[in-house]
Amino acid sequence: MSYFKQTIDGDIGTLEFDTPDSSVNILSSAALTELEQQLDEIAGRSDIKVLLITSAKKSIFIAGADIKEIESITDPQEASEKCNRGKQVFDKLEKLPQITVAVINGACLGGGYELSLACTYRVAGFAGCVKIGLPEVRLGILPGFGGCVRLPKLIGIGNALSVILPGKVLDANRALTLGMVDRLFYDPILVEQAKTFGRAVLSKKEKVHRRRKTLITKLLEGNPVGRSILFSQARKSVMKSTAGHYPAPLVALDTIKSLVGKSQAEALRLESEGFGKLGASEISKNLIHVFYLDEQYKKKKWNDAEPTLTHVKKAGVVGAGVMGGGIAQLLAKNNVICRIKDLNNQALALALKTARDVYKYLLKTRRMKKGQVEAQMSLISPTTTYDGFKNADVVIEAVVERMDIKKQVFKELDEVVQPSACLFTNTSSLSVTEMAQCTSRQDRVCGFHFFNPVHRMPLLEIIATEKTSEQTIATAVAFARQLGKMVIVVKDKEGFIVNRILLPYMNEAAYLFQEGVDTKHLDDIVKRFGMPMGPMELADEVGIDVGYHVAHILEGAYGNRMRIAEILKTVYEAGMLGKKSGEGFYIHAGKHKTVSSNVQNMRGNTVFTLDDDVTLKRLVYIMINEASRCLEEGVVESASTIDVGMIYGTGFPPFRGGLLRYADSVGVKHIVSDLKNFQDRFDQHRFEPSQLLLSMAETNDTFYPS
Ligand SMILES: NC(=O)c1ccc[n+]([C@@H]2O[C@H](COP(=O)([O-])OP(=O)(O)OC[C@H]3O[C@@H](n4cnc5c(N)ncnc54)[C@H](O)[C@@H]3O)[C@@H](O)[C@H]2O)c1
Repeated sequence: MSYFKQTIDGDIGTLEFDTPDSSVNILSSAALTELEQQLDEIAGRSDIKVLLITSAKKSIFIAGADIKEIESITDPQEASEKCNRGKQVFDKLEKLPQITVAVINGACLGGGYELSLACTYRVAGFAGCVKIGLPEVRLGILPGFGGCVRLPKLIGIGNALSVILPGKVLDANRALTLGMVDRLFYDPILVEQAKTFGRAVLSKKEKVHRRRKTLITKLLEGNPVGRSILFSQARKSVMKSTAGHYPAPLVALDTIKSLVGKSQAEALRLESEGFGKLGASEISKNLIHVFYLDEQYKKKKWNDAEPTLTHVKKAGVVGAGVMGGGIAQLLAKNNVICRIKDLNNQALALALKTARDVYKYLLKTRRMKKGQVEAQMSLISPTTTYDGFKNADVVIEAVVERMDIKKQVFKELDEVVQPSACLFTNTSSLSVTEMAQCTSRQDRVCGFHFFNPVHRMPLLEIIATEKTSEQTIATAVAFARQLGKMVIVVKDKEGFIVNRILLPYMNEAAYLFQEGVDTKHLDDIVKRFGMPMGPMELADEVGIDVGYHVAHILEGAYGNRMRIAEILKTVYEAGMLGKKSGEGFYIHAGKHKTVSSNVQNMRGNTVFTLDDDVTLKRLVYIMINEASRCLEEGVVESASTIDVGMIYGTGFPPFRGGLLRYADSVGVKHIVSDLKNFQDRFDQHRFEPSQLLLSMAETNDTFYPS
């Protein structure tokens, strides 16, 4: 295999990285070995004065180290050795007698950017495909090919921490501002410009002035007290965003801290040691698993059909409530012209306010300019009639969660919307099949389930009925991706996947609360497990009326195992609806909340005798059990679809790899044995293990191949 091609133009040599039979360049062991041979040879070449490292791949410089190799690491020693190998090669690159220039034409991530750090200069194209960064912590590891050592030297400790600890990926302009690249050139002539740049620095006609440190930076980074403040602030910020569940940024921080004042050789050794602590960890394996899921589901073809529309230009939205307003904003954000209908102007005004509030935040955080916001807001036009709906490519229904109203809306839409248009419903739990039956186009109807808040939640659940055509699914998938969402396609069964699994968990939390586990304690147990929010906080956030309503539909569909906890009914009937009414399980005052003693008093005599372990198991195993039923009934085709749904739809902790990967790590046998025990102790129906779990326990089976 040949990965690199050498060419020479005057005194400029070019080493072009072009992995055979692949659309990307990755620093595998084989590629590193060949790179080393090439560098050894170039080191002796006196005719080459400047060496450019370029890529033959479109929009990709080097995507990183080989993740498969990282995944296969089984012990810390092996992890450190893998790092040392990369370091050895990059050390040769750094020590070449020639001036070296990394010519970044696209993704330059992880090991790819570490290679460029070993070059004398880095130049990049302006194009949007240029993405630069060290995102290793997202895979549960740290930059191990010299990134922790060279980046702080290049851009300062504080800046390097701000890139490495969150695993940030920057566009070309931001990379230039931080000093991570030295020049930006026009993309079509990037290599030519890089040659001109190389010649200019060689002849000393051009000098690269790296950004000077500000006085504050000098004060902070130049003495032990300042550095100690810097590192302690960085630690606080990591703890705030990860709650300590992710060791990689903390080990990266400690590693960078330990490098200060060390020789480069010693610093590189310490970096490999830091990598060794992480490379073989279960958390890293889980995060790599989630990375693969992410890659796979971003592109997954759900069937062989082609979409009838590859790009939606005009869409209608019916229902301008919490969801309708959010959906309109998302459409406008993606340049889709949006007509939104409700019964009255007050509702429409509220939807416009919802959309504007999202934009206000984007303005405040400087992600958009005022002119762009106004242009996008003008794409949303409110109406109380179906005026303009006949031009819509697709329509999304988001009226109240009532079958009679939804059916009426579908009947009306069927009459006014052009025959070829697809009709989508945002229902959380109702039968899409029943709604579709009110139309003359059952093949062009499916569920299109956004999560709240629409602009923040990455998942979109597409619900296919028996009658939905493959083209409609393909169209819905393409449209969801146009809106930047992660898609799963599921069958039409009450609650679909995410709500069907999440609601029993929230209901179980209510049972535990009834038995005497305190509100905050319940939330803390779950957050310690890694969920972004506890179940009681979530109930208040979603709205106890909304949750209760969906829980009611699920109880009707699935019977005793989803019997609603009495306390939910009591709280709902008392009008304590959570955040929206000011009180639910918590009392909400602005950004602050305190546990509501009113709800605590409503639960009567309690019998709390559980330890935290049993509490957590009841909450998590009830989800695993319901997920296994979804698989058993064919509502989804694979465990990975459930895991994608739970991670992107509920924030199930990625470091656990997903709900069913977590089940595998515990062992289905143990889960079944606990569920049987809980059946005897707490409730026969709620904890009855599914047939799938029982048979898996018998054969020692796992959800994922082991
Ligand atoms: N709120 C959530 O967290 C959430 C999350 C996912 C999905 N959903 C689903 O989205 C849908 C809407 O939920 P929501 O929370 O936005 O409800 P909402 O009560 O905030 O808004 C519903 C809107 O529909 C309007 N409406 C009622 N009948 C109408 C008609 N015939 N024509 C036009 N407008 C009509 C109402 O006036 C109201 O403004 C529901 O199906 C719900 O299950 C809600």
